[in-house]
Amino acid sequence: MIRRNQTFARLEGSYLFPEIERRKEAFRATHPEAELINLGIGDASLPVPAVVAEAMAQKSLEMALPESFSGYGPSEGLKELRKRIAHIFYRDDFSLDEVFVSDGSKSEMCRLQALLGVGLKVGVQNPVYPVFVDSSIIFDAKEIVSLPCLPENNFFPELRQAAGCDLIYFCSPNNPTGVVYSKEHLEELVAFAIENRVLIIYDAAYSPFIQQGEHPRSIYEIEGAKEVAIEVCSYSKLAGFTGIRLGWTIVPKELRYADGGPILPDWRRIVQTLFNGASRISQAGGLAALTTEGLQGIEENIAIYLESARILKEALVAQGISVFGGDSSPYIWAHFPGKTSWDLFEEFLEELHIVTIPGSGFGTSGEGFVRLSAFCSYSDAVKAAEVMKRKQELLIT
Ligand code: MLT
Repeated sequence: MIRRNQTFARLEGSYLFPEIERRKEAFRATHPEAELINLGIGDASLPVPAVVAEAMAQKSLEMALPESFSGYGPSEGLKELRKRIAHIFYRDDFSLDEVFVSDGSKSEMCRLQALLGVGLKVGVQNPVYPVFVDSSIIFDAKEIVSLPCLPENNFFPELRQAAGCDLIYFCSPNNPTGVVYSKEHLEELVAFAIENRVLIIYDAAYSPFIQQGEHPRSIYEIEGAKEVAIEVCSYSKLAGFTGIRLGWTIVPKELRYADGGPILPDWRRIVQTLFNGASRISQAGGLAALTTEGLQGIEENIAIYLESARILKEALVAQGISVFGGDSSPYIWAHFPGKTSWDLFEEFLEELHIVTIPGSGFGTSGEGFVRLSAFCSYSDAVKAAEVMKRKQELLIT
């Protein structure tokens, strides 16, 4: 009989977000009267722009007619959509061959790991989006190097610690801290990667939330990045596609292996072998999202989420709590020195009826923090802020 893949012994028993869900449901079962406010997982709550829904409905109906039915599309994604992504997000700086439409970042991460292979030394920010660590372990990484990101270092890691890594995951605006990295920070990262021959997988899922014009929305705004970085992006947070599933990845033709060979043809081979392309219906919605009307709807939704973040942040700051993120990010990273994150999670849940994510779930450097998500409805953000103000003694003791 087959033996268990030994790498599972290195994984935590459960993935963070289902564990939060489990605890939330357990609380609900014992407190059916409690009205919970969910500031936990970063899941969109606002509807997609109407133009997106209409395009998806139209595509679905086309599937019912012999003259317009369509089967498999290109694994890399529809040309029209790749062209639009290159135009809107990269000012046509990439050819169609370098743009790959995905069904979202999580599954793309598995394909990227399949591309890069086992036995890698991987650098991750700590705290970190848990998928980067868990998928590296599943693909049998030799070593995971933790790069602490704390208030003391402005959440920018000491890159020297990543010397000898094959790969670094980097995320800006950051999940979970909500911190947005400056051009200087990203220049430092790219210079390090070039000098140390490290590949960067850059997670730009939250870049549409960046408000300050001077902060890069893409790693490719940094000179030299095309030689060292793959950028992964998603429609989930951009356009509320968490349930629709769509994203994209940029693999520049300049990107090379240590022996000088190009990475792009191997990536295409992986995508064509392991993926049959994102659903045509999602892609129709994705295309509509990038029309003038779609983009306007997206902007309006993001403005609402950012206003919710502002209200939540203000409620915490008013009580003297150190809070990070929330300005160009839907995430608020609140610091409660001396408390453990899981105790804080329980306190928020039991006393305030607010679901958060314990910071330590994102890594050891998250201990003493909780993450609040502003992807809730606006009215829930207002309610949560009121509860936090009303029960302030629970937060500050
Ligand atoms: C989060 O809440 O950190 C993520 O958005 C969840 C996810 O994308 O998997």
